[in-house]
Amino acid sequence: MKILSVVGARPNFMKIAPFIKAINNHNAKCNIQNADCKTPYEKQKTRNTKHETRNNPLEHIDHILVHTGQHYDDRMSKSFFEELNIPEADINLGIGSGSHAEQVGNTMIAFEKVLRAEKSDWVVVVGDVNATLACSVTAKKENIKCCHIEAGLRSGDLSMPEEINRLVTDRLSDLLLTPDHISTKNLIREGVPESAIRMVGNIMIDTLESNRNKASALQLSEVHRRNALLEYQFHPSLHEDRYIVVTLHRPSNVDEKTVFSSLVHFLTREVTNDFPVVWPIHPRALKRLEEFGLWQEVVEQKSLILLHPVGYHDMLRLNMGAKMILTDSGGLQEECTILGTPCLTLRWNTERPVTLRDHGGASVLVGNNIDRIRSEYNIARNLSRTPVRPDLWDGHAAERCLKAILEYGEGSRQQAVGSSRLS
Ligand code: UD1
Repeated sequence: MKILSVVGARPNFMKIAPFIKAINNHNAKCNIQNADCKTPYEKQKTRNTKHETRNNPLEHIDHILVHTGQHYDDRMSKSFFEELNIPEADINLGIGSGSHAEQVGNTMIAFEKVLRAEKSDWVVVVGDVNATLACSVTAKKENIKCCHIEAGLRSGDLSMPEEINRLVTDRLSDLLLTPDHISTKNLIREGVPESAIRMVGNIMIDTLESNRNKASALQLSEVHRRNALLEYQFHPSLHEDRYIVVTLHRPSNVDEKTVFSSLVHFLTREVTNDFPVVWPIHPRALKRLEEFGLWQEVVEQKSLILLHPVGYHDMLRLNMGAKMILTDSGGLQEECTILGTPCLTLRWNTERPVTLRDHGGASVLVGNNIDRIRSEYNIARNLSRTPVRPDLWDGHAAERCLKAILEYGEGSRQQAVGSSRLS
C-alpha cells in the first residue's frame, strides 16, 4: 500500500510525526512477521505502481511525505522536523505565503502533478489549514482515497478560513478519523455514514506524551535566552507558576487595528502589573505590531517578553510552568487541557468544545472584548492546575489512525460514496 501524507503549516507537524512513527513501527513488524513482505522503502521501484493488495494488515506501507511549503521559516517549519524526528519531506511544493486563493490554487496545481506521478492508494491530510483543503480536493479529483485526521471539528463560524477547510475536507474524505465524541456526532448529524467514521483520539497528544520528559527537563531561563527577540538581560527572569504565556495569530485578533491595539494595551498596561508576560510572536502578529504603531509600546514594557516563534519542546515547557495561557490557538487549548494550565481562549467560538471548562477542560472562551477577558483573567489567576484527559487522548491515536486505514474495506467505501451526505 502506498500512502502519501501532507503537511503545510506549523500545527500539522505535531500531527504527522506520530503517524509516520506508526507507519515505521508497522513496517518493522511486517518485516518480522511476514516473510513475503516487500523490503522497506523501495521507493524508486514502487513509486509508479499502484499496489494490488489491499486490506492486508501485514502489507508493507510505502510512505511519501509532501510539504506544501505554506510555512517555510526555519522557526515555523524546519525546527519542528528536527525536534520531532520527522524525516525530510520527499517533496516540497514551495508554495509559500499569499492570499488564500493563491495558496490553495497553487497547492492544487502542484499537488495534482505529484499525485499523477506517485499514484498513491491514499492521501492522508491532517488538521484544517489551506494544505488540508487543497490536497483533499485534489486527491478526490484524481479519484484517490482521502483520509482526514482530526475530522468532525466544527466551530460553526464560516468567517474562519479553517472552518471552510474542515467542511470541504470532511465532505470529500472517505475515512474520517475524529478526536472526540462531539466531533463524531457532528459528522453523523451532517449525514456521514458511521462506517466512514472512526473515533481515534487526539493525535497531537501522542506527540505531547512522547516529548513530555524532554520538555520538562528544560530550564525556563534557557528557553527564554535562546528565543529572546530583544536583549535577554533587560527582562525579568521566569519562575514556575509566576508568568503568563500569550499567543495570537488569528486574523480576527491581529488584523484589525482597534482589536489588536486593545489586546496589546491590556497586556502592557494591566497583566504585566501582575506577572511577566511571555509572548512567542507569530510572523503575522509581528508585522501588525509594526504596521499599527504598537511596536514601541511593547518594547518599552520590560515585563513583556517577546520571543521568536518557539520550537515544540520550548513551547511545551513554557506551558508546563505557566500560571495561565491567553491564546487563539486550537492546539494550545488542547495541550492546556492535558497539562491542566488555565487557558483563556481569545475567540468567540471553538471547534474544540471538549477543551472548555464547561466540558471538564481547562479553557474558557473570552473573545476579544477586554471587559470579558479581564473578568475571566481575574478568575483564572486563582485557579490551580487541573489536568484532564478526554477519552482516547492517551498517546496512541496514531496507531488507531493507521489501523483504520489498513482495515478500511471496499464495503465501507461503497457505502460512504453511495449515501447522500446532505440528507
Ligand atoms: C496558518 C493556518 C492556521 C494555523 C496557523 C498556524 C490557514 C488558513 N491558516 O495561519 O489555521 O493556525 O497557520 O501558524 O492555513 N509567514 C512567515 N513565515 C512563515 C509562514 C508565514 O513570515 O514561515 C508570514 C507571512 O507573512 C504570511 C503570514 O505569516 O503572510 C501568515 O501565514 P499564513 O500561512 O498565510 O497563515 P497563518 O496565519 O500562519
